[in-house]
Amino acid sequence: MAQTVYQDIGGEEAVRAVVDDFYDRVLADEQLVPYFEGMEMSELRAHQVQFISAVAGGPVEYTGDDMREAHSHLDIDEKDFDAVGRYLQSALQTNGVDDQNVEAIMAQVVALKDPILDR
Ligand code: HEM
Repeated sequence: MAQTVYQDIGGEEAVRAVVDDFYDRVLADEQLVPYFEGMEMSELRAHQVQFISAVAGGPVEYTGDDMREAHSHLDIDEKDFDAVGRYLQSALQTNGVDDQNVEAIMAQVVALKDPILDR
């Protein structure tokens, strides 16, 4: 049987590295920081690891809120969504995820744009 994207990219350790890198990039962007002020970052990182793992076909249960619910109170701008998406893509690439797997993950993330922007 073909490997899942999750196995292919290196499992839990790889996803943790990607998520750490991703939030480092997001929180270094002063345009994005205000959204995250007062948020419980350790819980957010843990949920993001679960979420990306599940998206990549890993044997991991995502226990957070659904994407519309998690983001609707934030009133996120479309260009801010796009910036966050670019940081996730860079984090995947920098951590050695190959192009095909980056594309597979990003296609699923881009498909979440409308619910995340609550439209
Ligand atoms: C690009 C796709 C995105 C994905 C896959 C994603 C994923 C997630 C996940 C899994 C959570 C955790 C929900 C929970 O703990 O129940 C979350 C929460 C959050 N996200 Fe996103 N997110 C995305 C885009 C964004 C954008 C564009 C912003 C802001 C510019 C953002 C800001 C936040 C904030 C502030 C929280 C915490 C909300 C709270 O605890 O009240 N996210 N996101």
